[in-house]
Amino acid sequence: MIGVDYYPEHWDSDLSHLPQMANDLIIMKENGIALIRVGEFAWHVLESEEGIYNFTLLDKLFELTRNLGIKIIIGTPSATPPAWLIKKHPEILQKDDMGHVRHFGSRRHYCYNSHIYKVYVDKIVNKLSERYGKMENLYAWQIDNEFGCEDTTFCYCEKCDLAFQKFLETKYHSIEDLNRDWGTVFWSQQYNDFAQIETPKRTNALRNPHQLLDFYRFSTQSIMDFAQMQIDTIKRYSDKPITHNFMTNFVEIDYKKMESQYDFISFDNYHFGNEFKPWFTGMNFDLMWSLQRKPFTVMEQQPGRVNWQVRNVYYDHQWMERISRQALSQGAENIVYFRYRAVPFGSEQYHNGILNYDGNPERSKRLQVCKLLSERRPLERKKSRIGIYFDYEVAWMHRINGVNKDFDYFNAIMELYRPLFENGEQVDFLFRDSDFSHYDYLIIPYALYLPDRVLQAVEYAEAKVVITCMSAMKDERNHILSETPLGINMRGIQFEITDFGAIFGEHLKMAEGEEIDADMWFEEHFLIKGQPVAEYTKKELTGHSPVILSDDRQTLYVGTITDYKGWQHLYHAIGLL
Ligand code: GAL
Ligand code: ZN
Repeated sequence: MIGVDYYPEHWDSDLSHLPQMANDLIIMKENGIALIRVGEFAWHVLESEEGIYNFTLLDKLFELTRNLGIKIIIGTPSATPPAWLIKKHPEILQKDDMGHVRHFGSRRHYCYNSHIYKVYVDKIVNKLSERYGKMENLYAWQIDNEFGCEDTTFCYCEKCDLAFQKFLETKYHSIEDLNRDWGTVFWSQQYNDFAQIETPKRTNALRNPHQLLDFYRFSTQSIMDFAQMQIDTIKRYSDKPITHNFMTNFVEIDYKKMESQYDFISFDNYHFGNEFKPWFTGMNFDLMWSLQRKPFTVMEQQPGRVNWQVRNVYYDHQWMERISRQALSQGAENIVYFRYRAVPFGSEQYHNGILNYDGNPERSKRLQVCKLLSERRPLERKKSRIGIYFDYEVAWMHRINGVNKDFDYFNAIMELYRPLFENGEQVDFLFRDSDFSHYDYLIIPYALYLPDRVLQAVEYAEAKVVITCMSAMKDERNHILSETPLGINMRGIQFEITDFGAIFGEHLKMAEGEEIDADMWFEEHFLIKGQPVAEYTKKELTGHSPVILSDDRQTLYVGTITDYKGWQHLYHAIGLL
């Protein structure tokens, strides 16, 4: 289905009347728009004072759409606690890592661990699900809106300090175990009691990397608990599917964990930058598909210009059509455009809609695209022959610290994804618990920590394997391995890493003579098994086999970081591309 994110409350202030809405819905119907998402920021419209509810807007919407055969997704409004609630309970506000309050005046200004806030959220979600849960044309529920957006994954308030202590006590049981796993002997950080521990607030020098990793885990858990309360409430009244809208390029929350709470994945597809990069969008689509290995909904498709970039680039209606067709070919079953009509006021007043500010459907080429696309069916995904390993906790480890501050796990994977995408491959992303069989190629990139299960699956896979630097050099606690030498010993490749460090803009010469870029990561090798197939061009760096192929040519190790052009050549060395 083709749909729109719809905010009728921005036009019809007289909720008893709503003439604009009736008109909008007819235009939608005529143009193939069959799905709308509403309500995710409408708390004050629904409850203007504590306990004073007004459901006219949604009542009317359901009434009109039922007649027109348009389906509805209701977003729960918990991303926007209204002013009356904040005045009464300012303690529900988030705090940043300096302990400063995140004030009212924007959105997402609440703490996931506030019991008081949860009581208020539960009340409104109860009302909504009781009233609409069984509506025939209710398509689904969306919980909240983009958890973590606008820097709100982490809260550092006193309530979160306490919740973090509890989380750690459940995990470690004894403070001695925590001290050992967090390496607190370093810089005299030992704790005598869980009650001494706080969320990792801003410090003058680097913070404890093990504490940070647990704090990421805790934050995902807090968000999931916050959502679960709403899910449980909805399920008491409604058997419609429940989803949450995940974000582009986003790794702060463990989406693989979070996915388990939802009936289907929905995804907000935004594009960064000037030039259209179909592989950028492609990787996000493949990742979203892979989370549940089934079709997903694009809950917010950018129709053109946004309002939150340094330069809010102009994209025409053909761009919108192109990116939408790509979604339909990579596993999206619905595309919902953000938003139906550009709003003249508010902090997103510079954002495009399907209709311009004046709401004139006659002039909207984007509306014609909606109509056109509504006649197309989503394509079924082909079976992928390539699996790329992806791990949210690994992304966190890379963010917490590393040899290169500017190394970005997601973007580095995008470089190796790009030539595959450009070659017409559809790639599956694989996670810790995925099935690794049935692929021709497995790629294990920058996987600092590899659980035993994955190591075994890779070791015995029939597929050809590409594995890169930084893989399997840490344990789950974020310690660097030290019981055995660093390096790889599997699938006919064996070497020890005797030293490593950052490099800037170096080059490798491949066995067949091509040169490729090598950046950021260099390692000294003591090679035991396997064939070197590349060498650094700089004399001082030679003798350490940056790329190694197993004798049976089934496994390739890449000991540095290169761009998509470099990857084309590297894939070639193992018969891929
Ligand atoms: C999304 C958000 C929407 C809207 C949009 C603007 O991140 O979910 O509510 O703000 O961005 O591009
Ligand atoms: Zn908090």
